[in-house]
Amino acid sequence: MHNDDLETNSSRNPHINDIIGERSADLKRRGLLKGGLGMASLSFMGAGSALTGCGSSDGPATVAPPQVPAVPARPTALNFSAVAKSTADSVVVPQGFTARVLYRVGDPLAAGVASYRNDGTDDPATYDKRVGDNHDGMSYFGLSSTNGWDPNGSTRGLLCVNHEYLNINFLHASGQTIVSGARTVPGEVLREIYGHGVGIAEVARDAGGVWSINQASTLNRRVHAGTEMEISGPAAGSFMVTRFSPNGTRTRGTVNNCANGYTPWGTYLTCEENWAGYFRRVTATDNPNRSAKELASFARYGVGGNGNHLWATTTPDTADQFFGRWNTMRTGTSADGSDDYRNVANTFGWNVEIDPFSPASLPKKRTTMGRFAHEGAWPARPVAGKPLVWYQGDDSRGEYIYKYVSNAVWDPADASRTDKLAVGDKYLNDGKLYVARFNADGTGNWIELSFGVNSLTASNATYAFANQADVLINTRIAADIVGATKMDRPEWGAVDPVNGAVYMTLTNNSESLRTVVAPPAGASARAARVDAANPRHYNDPRETGQNQRGNPNGHIIRWLEPTPEALTFNWDIFLFGARAGRDAASINISGLSADNDFSSPDGLWFSKATNICWIQTDDGAYTDVTNCMLLASLPGTVGDGGVRTITSTDSAGNSASIQTFVGAAQGDARLRRFLVGPRDCEVTGLAETPDGRTLFVGIQHPGEDTPLSAIATPSAYTSTWPDGGTARPRSALVVITKNDGGRIGG
Ligand code: FEO
Ligand code: CA
Ligand code: CA
Ligand code: CA
Repeated sequence: MHNDDLETNSSRNPHINDIIGERSADLKRRGLLKGGLGMASLSFMGAGSALTGCGSSDGPATVAPPQVPAVPARPTALNFSAVAKSTADSVVVPQGFTARVLYRVGDPLAAGVASYRNDGTDDPATYDKRVGDNHDGMSYFGLSSTNGWDPNGSTRGLLCVNHEYLNINFLHASGQTIVSGARTVPGEVLREIYGHGVGIAEVARDAGGVWSINQASTLNRRVHAGTEMEISGPAAGSFMVTRFSPNGTRTRGTVNNCANGYTPWGTYLTCEENWAGYFRRVTATDNPNRSAKELASFARYGVGGNGNHLWATTTPDTADQFFGRWNTMRTGTSADGSDDYRNVANTFGWNVEIDPFSPASLPKKRTTMGRFAHEGAWPARPVAGKPLVWYQGDDSRGEYIYKYVSNAVWDPADASRTDKLAVGDKYLNDGKLYVARFNADGTGNWIELSFGVNSLTASNATYAFANQADVLINTRIAADIVGATKMDRPEWGAVDPVNGAVYMTLTNNSESLRTVVAPPAGASARAARVDAANPRHYNDPRETGQNQRGNPNGHIIRWLEPTPEALTFNWDIFLFGARAGRDAASINISGLSADNDFSSPDGLWFSKATNICWIQTDDGAYTDVTNCMLLASLPGTVGDGGVRTITSTDSAGNSASIQTFVGAAQGDARLRRFLVGPRDCEVTGLAETPDGRTLFVGIQHPGEDTPLSAIATPSAYTSTWPDGGTARPRSALVVITKNDGGRIGG
């Protein structure tokens, strides 16, 4: 999502480019870069490379190669021809493939619910039985004949899909009713609350290969921004007391569910991203009533303002304050917060585990995994007898990358247990959270975020932590203190099933938000405002001539660990987004062509069936030429490229050369555009049947740039996808199949 992003990291922690600069200086000192670009063949993590300790003076340090169970080999070739860039108002897929819409925002998820009129007049009370808006992260779980989990089930399953936020101009008949800064039509607000969250739908493929929803299924469910859920893990009950839950173990709702994750026991993880903006906290009124620690926490997370959509202002409210609970100001007189919602914001910002096979079960917020603007949670492959691991990104400029490691070791028998949320308690309530630091020598470290460890104590001068709950609720503050590396808007991550390498998209950055840094010791002058999260700083003018400075096209970083629970890694940069034809030395470093050029990588996902890496874009920089897209890649691994020197130039004409580590160029044969979406959409969210023959893809907010003033003028809509004609555009889930019934991609 691009509208609600908040930058709140004012710590002085290093950005990754500060470290790249340090590493370059260090390598120069050691005479390793005498050849400049000629050293591109330097292998810093070659297969079977000798182990070199971090303190070695013989070359860039490495950690041991990963131990990953054998999986089927990746295909040697992609099985489709690239689609061209497109600005058409349609979904384009390669010849030989078919894309069909499975369901759209508003479609009924229960029998007896009326078809969606899509004009803003549908009964608000029915929206909790309809598909939510702005489809995002998703997972597919195969169904057995008894409606249990069949990990190999490819013809009938449960689709769990996030609904991140609202294409608000099209939701109501003619926009929101706001009187004197307050919402006065509760039905509108109910629609909006129901429009968020997660949808679970039973889907099946017919004999002709066409997929549809079973509207009568008892497994269909909406989890939305008003659904009651349990708070679990070390932070449950601490700093979470509300009028709704005087013992601080329950809350209502999940919101801004961006990317997702899943578990090896068949549950869905939905991840709360830009939740901070939904809470009303008028700072001039509330600040005098709050402690210094509370204010530090609110500032670090960006909780302050009128609240998205003014939900907290809705009148009339219900007796249990279904709307008023979005007000996180101190309004009561109690000492513990049991008479107001001053602590309610602490009950958001978590990963939420949902058992899709148990529609009556309460979702559980898993506080052990930390609190931040969660993009998603991506598991390493489970290994019997070893801890389970999830990687996580905090999606905001200058935020961090995290890793969660369970204390319990994986018992494969747990995969088939039906008390799935109890299994979740075992692995997700008891574990350690770590944050990434990228070192100058090409290695990285995971730094533990535990109370009493790494200065996270009651005597810390920056923030006096009370206990582990305080550390988890204020994960960002803890990560600042331990010296984590600032990254550039981490979006999705994914783990390569073939070799265990972990990939994460860094979607883009602008010049004005870059950190101004001094040249590193021993290096030549550095361009002001070089973005520390990546080595490129450049201008990418639109075809109209409008400048786009900074790193408007983003890139994908990756790292490799000896084992998933290890606390060290090696990293390089897999791909740089760029327009084909841009300067190969400073912008189009990955050598992208017309068949695979892209901008602003966001979604990232490895197919378990094919091991293909799929890349989705959430772009605003290249949209003068193409709508957002989906690409397929057959990647190598960390260290398959080498050292590169990249010259950056800022708007003042300052330039500097920076060395970094770049993966091997992919080429048209190994990186290819597969799909282009309709106008103004983001292509986000992917799932697949276990046989690799059906791919589900989310199309989010087509036509979002249509102004509210045009709502009565369909000809002025920037998109009418998918229904066309005079229809309002709708976010939707698309099913892709290969016409010969084969696997998607390779
Ligand atoms: Fe919701 Fe990070 O995009
Ligand atoms: Ca995004
Ligand atoms: Ca979006
Ligand atoms: Ca995203």
